[in-house]
Amino acid sequence: MTVKNKKTGGLAGVVAGQTGIAMVGAQGKGLFYRGYSIHDLTEHSSFEEVAFLLLYGKLPNQTDLDHFVSRLINQRALPDELKQTLRTIPAAAHPMDVLRTGCSMLGALEPETAFEQQADKAERLLACLPSMLLYWYRFCNEGVEIDFESAQPSIAGYFLEKLCGQEPSATHVTAMDVSLILYAEHEFNASTFTARVCTATLSDIFSAITAAIGTLRGPLHGGANEAAMELIEKFQTPDEAEAGIMKMLEDKSLIMGFGHRVYTVSDPRNDIVKSWAKRLSEECGDAVLYPVSERIEQVMWREKKLFPNLDFYSALVYHFLGIATPLFTPIFVLSRVSGWSAHVFEQRGNNRLIRPGAEYIGPDETTYPLMSERE
Ligand code: COA
Repeated sequence: MTVKNKKTGGLAGVVAGQTGIAMVGAQGKGLFYRGYSIHDLTEHSSFEEVAFLLLYGKLPNQTDLDHFVSRLINQRALPDELKQTLRTIPAAAHPMDVLRTGCSMLGALEPETAFEQQADKAERLLACLPSMLLYWYRFCNEGVEIDFESAQPSIAGYFLEKLCGQEPSATHVTAMDVSLILYAEHEFNASTFTARVCTATLSDIFSAITAAIGTLRGPLHGGANEAAMELIEKFQTPDEAEAGIMKMLEDKSLIMGFGHRVYTVSDPRNDIVKSWAKRLSEECGDAVLYPVSERIEQVMWREKKLFPNLDFYSALVYHFLGIATPLFTPIFVLSRVSGWSAHVFEQRGNNRLIRPGAEYIGPDETTYPLMSERE
């Protein structure tokens, strides 16, 4: 169905509900999780502390955190039936399809039978979504069946260790951890809204998260980080990038990783992720990708007053961490499951079915033609 006026479509500017989880600062500047700035959180907290904050509404003390981390570590393993299902998914499948299927299958094996279980189920997903992704990925690509034992206490360290089969450096774990914090929550974005719509029907948490994964997959939302990497990699020099972007703009192509529905001036997460991209670029002696990216940023601002969103430089960070491009959006899932779950809890806490109206633009009431009367 077409929307008559594009500018009024997409619920732009519509306040669709209340939330106490994330606040997008005035005029699109700043981002706060339960009142704490993402700058403070990335500087001082781990992803696990942030996940606890989102799920339980307060920063954990040391005992809370130790218990939370050990519960997550103890729930990394996958049931045999789920491993069996993952092994049947083709190597050519997109890893987002793997997570969507894996999440749904887990909901069938370990269903949420009462809302009192919601926190346990959220923790289970947080703990084992990385295992699902990497179990399938290593099995399909290398024929390796990973185990779920690891000395890495953090999700960031566990992910990098299981992906590469070796202990990651402390710098790489921190970069990954910061990225997980930045991706953890973002108010009423498309996938979170999807999770809330599903939750509002009184469905289960696995259905809500599965629906959210499907929504995140699209390139206008989470899929943009993969598309941004593919774009950056096309160019060998900044000048080539400038010419390529100018041509794309002339052709009215979308430049992935730029623009935002809510932010108007800049994405408050960008300076943090960009500084990590720069640091990792220097560490690995890159002389192409970072300069190309900066030139794309300059051209986009000069020509369109569009700024990079979180996905643009996140793509570079993941690339420098040695992560294959098709895994970029799935990493978004591993983090955002914390925010989605917090929204499931919040929606349930004050629920009403979400069912908007629509402006009808179809034909007027018409006489029903018998088969013999139809052209
Ligand atoms: N590249 C080129 N032009 C862009 C653009 C981009 N990344 N983002 C927006 N624009 C242009 C649009 O073409 C439109 O131009 P017009 O007024 O001449 O038609 C104008 O800017 C407004 O864009 P619109 O599509 O109405 O904004 P939106 O709020 O509906 O969309 C996004 C927001 C994020 C979907 C959009 O900026 C986009 O598609 N970005 C690329 C995908 C991406 O990075 N997504 C991740 C978001 S975190």
